[in-house]
Amino acid sequence: MPETWWRGAAIYQVYPRSFADGNGDGIGDLAGLRSRLPYLADLGVNAVWLTPWYPSPMADGGYDVADYRDIEPTFGTLEEAEKFIAEAHELGIKVIIDVVPNHSSDRSAWFQEALAAGPGSAARQRFWFRDEPGDWKSIFGGPAWTQVPDGQWYLHLFAPEQPDFNWTNPEVHQEFHDVLRFWFDRGVDGIRIDSAAVLVKDFDGGDPDGYTDQPEVHDVYRGWRRLAEEYDDRIFIGEVWFPDQERFARYLRPDEMHTAFNFDFLACPWDAAALRHSIQETMATHIPLGAPPTWVLSNHDVARVVTRYGREDTSWDHGARRDGVPSDLELGYRRSRAAALLAMALPGGVYIYQGEELGLPEVDDIPGDLRQDPMWPRSGYTIPGRDGCRVPLPWSGGEPPFGFGTGEPWLPQPEAWNKLTAEAQAQDLGSMLTLYKTALAIRRDRLGDGTLTWLGSAPEVLAFTRESGLTCLVNLGSEPVRLPPHETVLLASGPLEGEELPTDTAVWLA
Ligand code: GLC
Ligand code: CA
Repeated sequence: MPETWWRGAAIYQVYPRSFADGNGDGIGDLAGLRSRLPYLADLGVNAVWLTPWYPSPMADGGYDVADYRDIEPTFGTLEEAEKFIAEAHELGIKVIIDVVPNHSSDRSAWFQEALAAGPGSAARQRFWFRDEPGDWKSIFGGPAWTQVPDGQWYLHLFAPEQPDFNWTNPEVHQEFHDVLRFWFDRGVDGIRIDSAAVLVKDFDGGDPDGYTDQPEVHDVYRGWRRLAEEYDDRIFIGEVWFPDQERFARYLRPDEMHTAFNFDFLACPWDAAALRHSIQETMATHIPLGAPPTWVLSNHDVARVVTRYGREDTSWDHGARRDGVPSDLELGYRRSRAAALLAMALPGGVYIYQGEELGLPEVDDIPGDLRQDPMWPRSGYTIPGRDGCRVPLPWSGGEPPFGFGTGEPWLPQPEAWNKLTAEAQAQDLGSMLTLYKTALAIRRDRLGDGTLTWLGSAPEVLAFTRESGLTCLVNLGSEPVRLPPHETVLLASGPLEGEELPTDTAVWLA
């Protein structure tokens, strides 16, 4: 692949706990992932991004990192991770890992040292310890300050098991530079930066949101970019959630991150005007910076797209998750197919969250006592949280564990997933898996990095062409629309009606 592989890449997100279990303990691991690499190569993705694989007590699914330079023992060993990187590279797949710079686990050596060293110690300066708690709230619910036995309080924007680092301390900067080198030296091609905009805190401004997008946070990424430039072709992808496109774009300046997740597109309702607006805004902010946009439909933090698009309100909002609201899954499935063709046709990179290619719905009926997401207890058992999109994948066979492994999966899989296994879908020309595979193959040659030209169309229709001559049309209206003149139909998300594109359907023409 050329130097700029990432500009138009299709990146597959692996949630390691739920991808494939190699040793039968019901938890996904590196052995399982390595055994399924041929599946990813066959699917046709350019890169994988793994959510954290480090030693972790799993208070937040691995986003509570105890050691940034090793592998979680239930996932495997550092040696296996190195083998995985080499094997992925042999298959032409780049490897992106997750780095969590805002907070560590309370079990990390540094935090344990800080607890032992006591108030006023240098070890406490790596975190935010104070004699009095502040009034910020945790993003997972409840207060953001927790008291330790000697009376001091520490800050955690997320769970109490995730103490925030003090990014005014040069030692913290140095530590993360070392961590980046540790992984770049092991061949990792890219870093997804967790909670990238909240590292720097302003306690004095009286702002309840005094941790979001503080100006000094950009210095962190400038330093990281300089480090990455010492290597060939390594990239950063920021997890930057905010609606203000102008502030968002600042993270993509040429001396900061290479790309960032497009959550505006993810959060957008299934509505032509809203989607057109989101796409246009995205292009307008990215093009002047020379940064490729990304297109994201789902990830491990949001409701599965099939379920979301079948709801009455199809938008996404972290604050109002709508867990458990009724969904017309058939409608959601049809729209997800169309959305996949839209996302894959747009200029830039595209992210596919594991199971999206299988059309998995959100699992809404996980029993409370099996739920693992800290949102559930932290919200006083009112917000079920994110487990419903993290259920182990169905690979094969007619009943759970559906080839995920031999043991009982850490979250229960619905019986009805027997129709959604990768094995069942591989045989079926009309399946979601076949759609993704076919689309990714076409995308490799004709789509990805570049720009688009909008075509005149009815307001409920999104229509544009790409440099290769491929035209993408998505009908979000309630009536079928006539296809423009074309030579061939390359791919359609559902059956066409003669020369007409039915509602909630997308087509690629040449
Ligand atoms: C990011 C992750 C999410 C995690 C949080 C705290 O938003 O995607 O899963 O809970 O950061 O690390
Ligand atoms: Ca396992």
